[in-house]
Amino acid sequence: MKKVVLAYSGGLDTSVIIPWLREKYGNDLSIVCYAADLGQGKELEPLKEKAIKSGANDIYIDDLKKEFLTDYVYPALKAGALYEGQYPLATALGRPLIAKKMVEVALKENADAVCHGCTGKGNDQVRFDLAFATLAPHLKIIAPLREWDMKSREEEIEYAQKHGIDVPVTKQTPYSLDLNLWGQSIECGVLENPWTEPPEDAYKLTQAPEQASDTPAYITVSFDKGIPKSVDGTDLEPLELVEKLAKLGYDHGIGRIDMVENRLVGIKSREIYEAPVATILFEAHKALEGLTLEREVSHYKQKMSHDYANMVYYGQWFSPLRQAMDAFITSTQEWVTGDVRLKLFKGSVTVVGRKSPNSLYDEALATYTEEDVFDHASAEGFIRCFGLPLQVTGSRDLKSKK
Ligand code: ARG
Repeated sequence: MKKVVLAYSGGLDTSVIIPWLREKYGNDLSIVCYAADLGQGKELEPLKEKAIKSGANDIYIDDLKKEFLTDYVYPALKAGALYEGQYPLATALGRPLIAKKMVEVALKENADAVCHGCTGKGNDQVRFDLAFATLAPHLKIIAPLREWDMKSREEEIEYAQKHGIDVPVTKQTPYSLDLNLWGQSIECGVLENPWTEPPEDAYKLTQAPEQASDTPAYITVSFDKGIPKSVDGTDLEPLELVEKLAKLGYDHGIGRIDMVENRLVGIKSREIYEAPVATILFEAHKALEGLTLEREVSHYKQKMSHDYANMVYYGQWFSPLRQAMDAFITSTQEWVTGDVRLKLFKGSVTVVGRKSPNSLYDEALATYTEEDVFDHASAEGFIRCFGLPLQVTGSRDLKSKK
């Protein structure tokens, strides 16, 4: 093996992987690091020096924020994708994008392998491996954490020092974190006990609801074909829009999620998520769909949301099924244009109004006033036919009891 592209964060694991790869595959191995900015709020420029210091040959650093939002996050928003009804999939959506970019680098650089620092008991390894397998089946996949027997931070530091590598010693957080524009995933430490309330220091994207303002904020989010385009009448680029909602979400303590979820590898794990922007946008989007989607489309789409979320969670982003679902979802979004008014208050987001030029809500049909145009008499015949199978079954059951 001559060349490998490594998903690199500059943290301890991916730094230690560099000397480990050399030890295993020889000193001539060329190691090209790949670091992506998905809005984790960390300056990535310093990673250049860090990677070289840790023994890498080269590094690519890409700003993927916009692409992440438009090509990964927004499709998932339109799909209503929440894993197990709660998790907005921030981490799960980031992986396929990083993997895709790594494959591009690997092909350009003529590399033989790709490498990531995911552990053997998580979901992220599945997402990376399946994306690599779909996009570049010929590349070898190396996952050192599945192979090596180092179990603690101390062991890893010792290993690096033994190999004369300058590993970054950063301030240690008691949690395992993954952050991007769609939210933060928080695991480990005291959170491993599902009975323990998360300490305040676990959170970063939201202030505690009890600290939030006593005055609610009212905002209007407008969508065009299912895509959020403006806040309070001001058109915003995807990144600006997300940043604006992130600030509002922080201030009002929106989007803290505490759940025990079913991992793909079979383990149940306690997860804390912070997803202020996702929480606001999912609520708003759902409300607009309520107004604009025909009933059967709406019901069918809800079933698909569940499958779509599972596919994203299970690392099937590049699968033909997920792409075909996207085609269906895009078609449903044709009419999802309009405005949603939301109230943000002490941790909750409540829809208080919605309107659309494509609304299917007909007040003349819905009203209980004199303006009513609905033909009440027609209901009787409808119910008779609709209920006929039940009526026939009822008669049979009554007879059989005699
Ligand atoms: N349980 C979440 C998921 O599977 C979060 C994973 C967090 N990953 C991490 N490297 N800390 O998507």
